[in-house]
Amino acid sequence: MAPPVVRARFADSESVFKPDIFKGKVLFCTGGGSGICKGMTYAMMKHGANAAIAGRKLDRLTQAAEELSKGTGNTCIPTQADVRKPDQLKDAVRKTIEKFGRIDFVICGAAGNFLAPLSGLSENAFRTVMEIDTLGTFNTFKATIPYLRESHGSYIHVGVAFHRRGLPYQAHVSAAKAAIDSLSRVIAVEEGPWGVRSNVIAPGPISNTEGMSRLRVSGDEGAFESFIPLGREGVIQDIANATVFLFSDAASLITGEALVVDGGLQQLSTSS
Ligand code: HXC
Repeated sequence: MAPPVVRARFADSESVFKPDIFKGKVLFCTGGGSGICKGMTYAMMKHGANAAIAGRKLDRLTQAAEELSKGTGNTCIPTQADVRKPDQLKDAVRKTIEKFGRIDFVICGAAGNFLAPLSGLSENAFRTVMEIDTLGTFNTFKATIPYLRESHGSYIHVGVAFHRRGLPYQAHVSAAKAAIDSLSRVIAVEEGPWGVRSNVIAPGPISNTEGMSRLRVSGDEGAFESFIPLGREGVIQDIANATVFLFSDAASLITGEALVVDGGLQQLSTSS
């Protein structure tokens, strides 16, 4: 008998976790001015954290910080920084410490993406994505690790799952994200004795995000759904829920892992 078509229900983290589990804690999030990382920041603030969001565009960051503060009742500050520039990142971290006095959680989310065949990538195009994603993660780690050692804090890196295969037109992102997986595992091992955890969240297709809009070919909206075992594309709230879980004490023995949030899509792809 054919199985019924049951679409995974949408969860609401505001009702799943206690509202104050991150009270007194501080999040530093690169790429937090929009999309998935803004949603991750919102969820952390809804559960009591204050936050600093870092990115290149001050206007967008300022507006996002206001929305996040208003929407959650906690405080978010904008800190302008290009993650490729270590000095700008250090400055953003310094402003965060001046404002809040500590950093407990770091989301390395700043990323760049576009569809292009490997043979069509210029050296600068490949380098640009490697620098934003991989070097940006390294720079963020270097700027924040002294504070995470103090707070026994935790990193989440925003990855992908498709780099384990050979997804066309994504060589630059696949290479950059594979390196991030490796960095995260080494952070887990080297910094574990300091009480610091490091994990990757690997989103599958997430509706209504800049990343997906860059990856979609015109007319393929919703096309992934027929391949996803749980029957729907993700929404930002799915990634936000995974974030709250991984930063919470419920995950206090989980480090060096990559949590794929894709409704089972990559299991299907890798088993064929
Ligand atoms: C080929 C391209 C290109 C394209 C840019 N380049 N777009 N090459 N195809 N579509 C080339 C440029 O020609 C240039 O090379 C080099 O890349 C650098 O481009 P710039 O525009 O000068 O760089 P910059 O201003 O730093 O912008 C970086 C960017 C841009 C990555 C190109 O798209 C950006 O700022 N993106 C940030 C936002 C973003 O991408 N968000 C989505 C993240 S989602 P030449 O040789 O001409 O100098 C994500 C997750 C994906 O990463 C997974 C989802 C499931």
